[in-house]
Amino acid sequence: MDYFDVVDSRYSHKEKFLSDAVPLDVLEKIAKAGLAAPTGMNSQCVKLVILQNREEVEALCQVVSTDGMLTAPAAIAVLTDTEAYKDSPYNFEMEDYSAAATQMLLAATALGYSSLWLDSPYFNEKEQKEARAVLGASDKYHLRVVLPIGLPDGVGSRREKLPFKARVSYGVMGK
Ligand SMILES: Cc1cc2nc3c(=O)[nH]c(=O)nc-3n(C[C@H](O)[C@H](O)[C@H](O)COP(=O)(O)O)c2cc1C
Repeated sequence: MDYFDVVDSRYSHKEKFLSDAVPLDVLEKIAKAGLAAPTGMNSQCVKLVILQNREEVEALCQVVSTDGMLTAPAAIAVLTDTEAYKDSPYNFEMEDYSAAATQMLLAATALGYSSLWLDSPYFNEKEQKEARAVLGASDKYHLRVVLPIGLPDGVGSRREKLPFKARVSYGVMGK
């Protein structure tokens, strides 16, 4: 697949995954794609925890059981170091992990896997803390997103995008 086919093929897989294991080298390739993303002021504040098997994914499911994780054979948890910008007037943690997560979603697609951006299960303080504990991450980290990764069990549902013209203008908005 060329880059634009990958971009067009990516979708949020909200259905079941097959139980087939995801080889570690595949997960590492996806992780490397995430770490290759740009970061504000080159902070590199994004940290990843690779969950290599169902047992490790299941441990996160014990904190909060969410559809996207129920059958995933692997996952990558995306955290940020909340101290990375402490000496700066700016904080680009959100942008940094979003760029990394996006690159990993595309990398997973390019390698024939499906994934999903899962963040809402970890919004609450309680789940955030417990999930961090499962991942062995101290309080200075913030768990931002978990990307379940696996082969889709069947064709996943797709969501429609608005037409190009509804979102793109030339020169000035609306033209
Ligand atoms: C910032 C962000 C947060 C998201 N959080 C969740 C989530 O917590 N749970 C979920 O099922 N999908 C989540 N998604 C996936 C969106 O629902 C999905 O991207 C959107 O519906 C468009 O579908 P597509 O990814 O297939 O193009 C999130 C996506 C983004 C970019």
